[in-house]
Amino acid sequence: MRKVKWAVDYLTESTHIVTSPDSLKGRWKEYLNCNELHVEIGCGKGNYSLNMAIKYPEQGYVAIEKNESAAGMAAKKFDENESEAHLALIRGDASEIVNWFEEGEVDVIHLNFSDPWPKKRYAKRRLSSKSFLNQYRMILSEKGQIQMKTDNSSLFEYSVLEFQNNGFTMIDFSVDYRREAHDEDVMTEYEEKFVEKEQPIYRCVWKKI
Ligand SMILES: C[S@@+](CC[C@H](N)C(=O)[O-])C[C@H]1O[C@@H](n2cnc3c(N)ncnc32)[C@H](O)[C@@H]1O
Repeated sequence: MRKVKWAVDYLTESTHIVTSPDSLKGRWKEYLNCNELHVEIGCGKGNYSLNMAIKYPEQGYVAIEKNESAAGMAAKKFDENESEAHLALIRGDASEIVNWFEEGEVDVIHLNFSDPWPKKRYAKRRLSSKSFLNQYRMILSEKGQIQMKTDNSSLFEYSVLEFQNNGFTMIDFSVDYRREAHDEDVMTEYEEKFVEKEQPIYRCVWKKI
């Protein structure tokens, strides 16, 4: 993504940005006034977390995005929303996620259209690679779930094996998720584009063993 100067500057004034997420470790539910905590990793411009938080005002959403321009655009959308929504944004790299959430604190992690990093030498950057999964297992509650959606069959195959080999069990699986209506789950920005092009959406849900 090209640098969007206003968005980068906006990050300093947003009311939804949490600049020291480690200071809220163990207190996110209190901070967001919710009893179910969702975390979206790689939220892009923030549509998914925003629209889910509006749809489910009893749930809290923490959106994480490492790209400054995308995070700034998400922050502005969050700030402009007038509906009830319990939302926060972290501008940072999810490789630090265990520093931000307490063990067992998170109920659902969303991985939406994560970057596939197709070259093997960059496999460690995939958000479903072993080192990330080890961190997710720590911060997820006993009944916690990870929900993943992607258009990329190679990333999907890789992820299914990686989850299976790293302490997770699959509880839901689809290779054409949007063939049926799923009004309970809003579309992400990328998802809308793929659905428009009639590309299948792969989706899987896992829980800890
Ligand atoms: C392909 S985009 C998808 C955006 C959005 N989830 C959607 O479905 O429309 C992937 C996003 O993940 C972000 N990302 C990738 N690795 C990340 C990481 N380690 N921590 C935080 N964000 C990350 C990228 O900057 C990018 O904005």
